[in-house]
Amino acid sequence: MEIIIERDYDAVCARACGYVKEAIEAKPALVLGLATGRTPLGLYEKMRGLKADWKKVRFFNLDELYGVGPEHPESFHRFLHENLLEHLKVERKNVMLFRGDVKDLEKAAQENEESIARVGGIDLQILGLGHNGHIAFNEPGSSLGSRTRPKTLTPETIAQYRKPGKEPASNHAITMGVGTIMEAKRLLMMVSGESKAAIVREFVEGPLTSEIPASVLQMHPRAVVVLDEPAASKLKRRDYYKWTFENKWRVGQK
Ligand code: PGA
Repeated sequence: MEIIIERDYDAVCARACGYVKEAIEAKPALVLGLATGRTPLGLYEKMRGLKADWKKVRFFNLDELYGVGPEHPESFHRFLHENLLEHLKVERKNVMLFRGDVKDLEKAAQENEESIARVGGIDLQILGLGHNGHIAFNEPGSSLGSRTRPKTLTPETIAQYRKPGKEPASNHAITMGVGTIMEAKRLLMMVSGESKAAIVREFVEGPLTSEIPASVLQMHPRAVVVLDEPAASKLKRRDYYKWTFENKWRVGQK
């Protein structure tokens, strides 16, 4: 797991956008896994300004709220369209996002796994980090080998998504499993803000445990975690990570 520490949120987004750009240049038919939440918003803004050819890029996403259709104001589907996809010249057939309004979630989960397999797997998966250590909607206690499936959300996650003064849009979700995410060829996690510093330290430098699903990134051969200074502030080896990144070129890496 490579740790990159940037000055601030904007620099985190610029770094992440650089990885996306590089990946599309290397493979125009890239299979890109998108994430929802506040953290990737700055990345999506930068992606909207990229001079890239999006026509062949295939898109998946990590999760969706159960019972929430694509037009619903709180759907992740809509979020991704409004913040990213409708601004890029993408082919409709290449956008394979979850729908939360399907009758049979188990079947939809299976079909999503099959669609990913059909395109040869996800090349680059963008990830955020929950305050409780979740990745996608794999809440603490999720099997580290889990596949795409329906999941019941924890009260803290529901509180995070709930619009003030409104009933939560859903208490359940469909989510890629931890095992599914781990099969992506490359993982790109973005984390910003002091409120996540403690969980960053736990998942990066603590033991591998299903109590903190993000800790599984320790096992991925090509996971990059891009943090801003506040999010990195509790890391024990913070200075070493910085020094390592600055000196990469000395050992023939970029
Ligand atoms: P956030 O959500 O980007 O809004 O903090 C991340 C997550 O819960 O995965």
